[in-house]
Amino acid sequence: MEHELRTIGKIPGNVELAEYLKNKFIPIKFCYPNEGGDRWHELRRNSEYSLGERELIAFRDGLKKIKEYVGGSSLRIIHLGPGDGIELPPLYGKEGFSLDTEYVGIDISKQMISNTIRLNKLILEKVPSLWYLTDIETEGNLKDILSNLDEKTKKENLMLLTNQGVLISNPKTLPIISNSMKKGDYLFITLEGDDPARRDEVLATYNLEEVRNILKVGLERAGITEGKFIPTRFNEKLNQAEVYFEQKNGKKILCLTSYKPKSKEQIKERLEENKLKTIFVDYFPESHSYAILCRRQ
Ligand SMILES: C[S@@+](CC[C@H](N)C(=O)[O-])C[C@H]1O[C@@H](n2cnc3c(N)ncnc32)[C@H](O)[C@@H]1O
Repeated sequence: MEHELRTIGKIPGNVELAEYLKNKFIPIKFCYPNEGGDRWHELRRNSEYSLGERELIAFRDGLKKIKEYVGGSSLRIIHLGPGDGIELPPLYGKEGFSLDTEYVGIDISKQMISNTIRLNKLILEKVPSLWYLTDIETEGNLKDILSNLDEKTKKENLMLLTNQGVLISNPKTLPIISNSMKKGDYLFITLEGDDPARRDEVLATYNLEEVRNILKVGLERAGITEGKFIPTRFNEKLNQAEVYFEQKNGKKILCLTSYKPKSKEQIKERLEENKLKTIFVDYFPESHSYAILCRRQ
């Protein structure tokens, strides 16, 4: 089946990257296009990437529960950053939604989109799907997509922001998503939380070779090749894991930030600040991960 891909807005390139570099920061979105998509696939399917498995526990459990709240006669699923679409089998499996439920995949990486389509061919042959290439973190892009979809057919939207601690660590992401949603739309989030007693486990993920291979794509785009990664640290003030790369000249570049909430209350507060009313926040202590459903006010 042919899958149409629409591009919305400008995909940030080397000019934008140079601006970020002035603040010694490389947002991960510069790593994911092209070979970054395949490097993500290598990480996602690696058994040492235990964070991915922990987050999927929350995803599967939350999925069963959200069906009590969403899924009227006209539902549209909007998947923000599908990666290689690991959520698709449970999403349309026994515990998930019926195959006639519309699916919209939105990503900044063409390679991620084609990997999702290739790896979920059997499901996507049956599901009505639409694909958008865009930068979610640029104000206006998501709003344009959602208003465009609703102009054609007004549906109840269920947005998926699953396993996206890095995207959520950008303080602009939740406001942008919330501003793009119409009243009554749902947002399903899964996220690893911080557990100070298991901090080593939380941080170990980001020291994996495969994670560093993804970050190297952004560093290489910025012309930075010589230096070394510093072991991941936790920023208590911002509740986030942080990865720095130290250049030969001693300058440090921040390459990754990932939000790790400490409590249900902290999550609810952040959602409420963004006009998102919490329906449930479930915590899974074994995997220290959260499944969250909220609704736009
Ligand atoms: C950490 S992966 C998560 C993938 C998937 N949800 C999973 O659990 O395997 C992040 C995904 O979000 C996409 N992404 C990151 N930043 C983005 C942005 N600014 N706009 C659109 N997509 C973005 C990446 O290309 C990638 O597909």
